[in-house]
Amino acid sequence: MVNNFTFCTPTKVHFGKGVLKELHNEVTAVGTKVLLVYGGSSIKRSGLYDQVKGQLADCIIFECGGVEPNPRITSVRQGVEICKKEGVEVVLAVGGGSVLDCAKAICAGALYEGDAWDLVLAPSKITKALPLITVLTLAATGSEFDSASVISNLETKEKIGFLSPFVYPKVSILDPEYTYSVPANQISAGAADIMSHIYEQYICTESNLISDGMCETVLRTIIECAPRLLKDPKDYDARAQMMWASSLACNGFCSLGNGVRPWPCHAMEHELSAFYDITHGVGLAILTPELMRYSLNEDTVERYCHYGKAVFDLPEESDRMAMAKKAIDKTEEFFTSINLPNSLKALGIGEEHIDEMAQHAFDFNGAFHLCPRPLDVEDIKQIYRNCLK
Ligand code: NZQ
Ligand code: ZN
Repeated sequence: MVNNFTFCTPTKVHFGKGVLKELHNEVTAVGTKVLLVYGGSSIKRSGLYDQVKGQLADCIIFECGGVEPNPRITSVRQGVEICKKEGVEVVLAVGGGSVLDCAKAICAGALYEGDAWDLVLAPSKITKALPLITVLTLAATGSEFDSASVISNLETKEKIGFLSPFVYPKVSILDPEYTYSVPANQISAGAADIMSHIYEQYICTESNLISDGMCETVLRTIIECAPRLLKDPKDYDARAQMMWASSLACNGFCSLGNGVRPWPCHAMEHELSAFYDITHGVGLAILTPELMRYSLNEDTVERYCHYGKAVFDLPEESDRMAMAKKAIDKTEEFFTSINLPNSLKALGIGEEHIDEMAQHAFDFNGAFHLCPRPLDVEDIKQIYRNCLK
C-alpha cells in the first residue's frame, strides 16, 4: 500500500573522504560571522577543531563548546545569547547528534524574541531560523539529514523532540573518517539508534515493497557493519555504510507511503534519558525487544515473521507465533552481541519513576493508540516493568 505523501529534504550532502574542503565555500556563501557549536573534547582530540578553524581563518568565529550528550536547554540559551549579541549569520555544528540538535535549537532561538524552550514545546512558533551547516562525527541520530532536534530540560525533567522545516541543515558534511575515533560503546549505541529509527517506521500496519526493501537493507547493513567496526574501528567501508545508513534512517525517506508511524520506542526512551540521563541508543536497545514482545499478537504476528525472514533469513514456519518470537529473540541477541545491555537493572534503574514516565510518554506522544498493537498508559508501564528483568 502506497499512501499519498509529500517529501522534501532540503539538505545538501557532501559525503566521503576529504569533503571538509567544501566547508569554506559553503559557510561563506551564507555568512562570515559564524557560531561554532561543539561538544566536549572529541573534536579537539581528533584534530577536527583545528582543521575547521584553519579552513575558516577569514571568518569571525564565536564558540559555543561543551554541549552535553542529551543536550540541555541551558546550552541552547548560551548559543542564542551569543547569536543575538554578536549578530551571528550562520551556525556551524561539529559533532554528534547532540551537538547538531543543540545547534538546530540555537538557529531557531536566535531569531525568536522569547525563551528557546517555548520553541521546543511549541515548534509551530518557529517561523525562521539561522542557516545551519553540520560536520558530523558520529553515525547514529540522522540529525544531519532531518528536521528534528531533541532537547533536555533538567529543571522540568523533560527531554522533548521537536520538528520544524526551518531547522533542516542547509549543508551536511559527512566524512566517515571523522568517525574513526568513535569509541566502541558509542558505535553500538549508534547502531541501536539507527535500527530503532527503522523499526519505528517499519513495524506498522501498512507498508509497501519499496519502503520494506529500504528498511530491511538499512537493518541488514547495520547488522553487518557494527560488528565489523567493533573488530576494526578503521574499517572505512563499514564506517561509511553506517554513516549513510544513519542519515537515511531518520528523515522519513525509508517509509514513504507507509501507514501511521507513532514512534513509541523513542517516546519511551526519551523518558528514560530525561530521568536517568542515559545514552539514547542504550535505552532503545533495552526497550526494543520488550516493546516487540508486548506488541506481538494475532494482528502483528505476520509482520514480525516477515521481518525475521527478510532481515535474519529465518526459515518459514507453520507455527507463526514461534517464528515471530524467534525474530524478536534475534533482535535482542544482536544487541547483546554488540555489548548492549538488555535490562534496565543493568543501568541501576528500578521501578521508581515508571508511573510518571509512562504517563508523560503517553501524553506527549499522543499516538500510542495508533501502534500496530494499540497501547495505553498501563501497557507502557508494563513494558517498562518487563525491561527491569
Ligand atoms: O561531546 P564530545 O566530546 O564530542 O563526545 C561525544 C559524546 O561524549 C562523543 N563523540 C562524538 N563524536 C565522536 C565522539 N567521540 C569520539 N570520536 C568522535 N568522532 O560521543 C558521545 C555521544 O555523543 P552524542 O552527540 O550525544 O551522540 P548521538 O549522536 O548518539 O546523539 C544523541 C542525541 O541525539 C538525540 C538523542 O535523544 C540524544 O539526545 N536524537 C536526535 C534525533 C534527531 N535529531 O533526529 C533523533 C534520535 O532519535 C535521537 O533522539
Ligand atoms: Zn533515536
